[in-house]
Amino acid sequence: MEFIVDQQVQDIELPENLKLNTFLQEFHSDCPHPECGFGFYGFAFGQSPFPVPKLVQNALVSNASKGTYASVQGIPELRNAISKYNKHYFEIDIDPQRIYVGPGTKELIFNLLEILHGTVILPTPAWLGYLPQIRLLKKNYHMLPTAINRKISPDDLRKLALRLHDRQKILILNNPHNPTGLLYDRLELEEIADVCREQNIIIISDEIYAQTTYDFSKFVSMGKIYPEGTFVTNGLSKSHAAGGYRLGYVIFPQNALDLQMQFKKILATEYTAVSTPIQNAAISGFEISDEMNEYFTITRNIHEIMGEYTYNKLSEIEGVKVTKPEATFYLLADFNYYAMDLQTAKITTSQKLSEALIVHPYHTAIVGGDSLVLERTDYSARIAYVDYNGSKVYENYQNQKPKILSEREKFVKINAPKIVAGIRMIERFFEQIKKTI
Ligand SMILES: Cc1ncc(COP(=O)(O)O)c(C=O)c1O
Repeated sequence: MEFIVDQQVQDIELPENLKLNTFLQEFHSDCPHPECGFGFYGFAFGQSPFPVPKLVQNALVSNASKGTYASVQGIPELRNAISKYNKHYFEIDIDPQRIYVGPGTKELIFNLLEILHGTVILPTPAWLGYLPQIRLLKKNYHMLPTAINRKISPDDLRKLALRLHDRQKILILNNPHNPTGLLYDRLELEEIADVCREQNIIIISDEIYAQTTYDFSKFVSMGKIYPEGTFVTNGLSKSHAAGGYRLGYVIFPQNALDLQMQFKKILATEYTAVSTPIQNAAISGFEISDEMNEYFTITRNIHEIMGEYTYNKLSEIEGVKVTKPEATFYLLADFNYYAMDLQTAKITTSQKLSEALIVHPYHTAIVGGDSLVLERTDYSARIAYVDYNGSKVYENYQNQKPKILSEREKFVKINAPKIVAGIRMIERFFEQIKKTI
């Protein structure tokens, strides 16, 4: 029997998580060297290593008996908690009626792209999740390469918008940003919002990493700057280390009631509602409590310490340029200084660079530039600094908080030896590449 699949499905790339898994299996499990048995230095997976907050775990257990369907939009108690959470942490005042709960922000972003007319503007580098969705929906789209500082240039945004003839355009803004770890400040957001108002661009502001901002007072939501044109998405996946719970939410712009009805229709058509026990469990994760506050503080401090070490050590490697993360658990490393050497060694694309690093003797997993919507020949890579035992490190941090730089470095050496060794491997790889030429 031959099954025929629609062309737009064939045309989309494998999403990041599947691509990575397949890639790592193919290139590592077949490795004949005994050293391969220990696994690899994991800079590739974008997952918080910490345990789900105890409060949320316990709430899930006590809500396990709730077997009825929930309302499409999300249960009122959860939307109320999300509204208060946004007021407390992000200083946005939103009526719970503007909040829709969904099975992860990835699905909600897909649903938004489904209902919103217009060309999509995708700044690059980008999280790989967006592009297959845009393609699957057969939407028109334009890449917007970011400026030298790896942030959206308002002038470039305006120039691109002027070339597009749709009445409405959709900008995907990801702040804080995966893969660079960069954070937009208020002024930068205001300048982008000005262009959006002028050019009729609506924004999907993916703020899934907001709570990880190291100096939390610096985070500003686009929902505050451009409330009439921004859809803010956020959820449990990164801040609460609960990607597997599959729970996210979107805040609709002000005065978009008709649109909300269209959205509700789509959600009801596609998945009815998010699992009822999960919605109930999430309430305690969004309610303001000392326990959650401590959890957010500790996890963001640990991400900062790991990020600082990774940034410092990668920057010390000759020619390597690294973005300085202010949030998330990623940074972008630019290895283009070695472009000629890599090409001579027949490593002609960023995908080949990932392959060369994963095999013996380097055993180091990174996400290459082509998976970040960069040119195939751009030797940049996303480095995630989460390869450690999150539960143990959380406890160690509670027991002794490292303060000065030398203490923080020591903390990384003791608690995250795979990060330390992995960076050394990257260094060795490039030393070798230079030597063999
Ligand atoms: C930038 C970005 N947006 C969205 C997501 C998906 O989040 P969710 O688990 O809520 O679908 C991720 C996950 O890696 C991400 O990095």
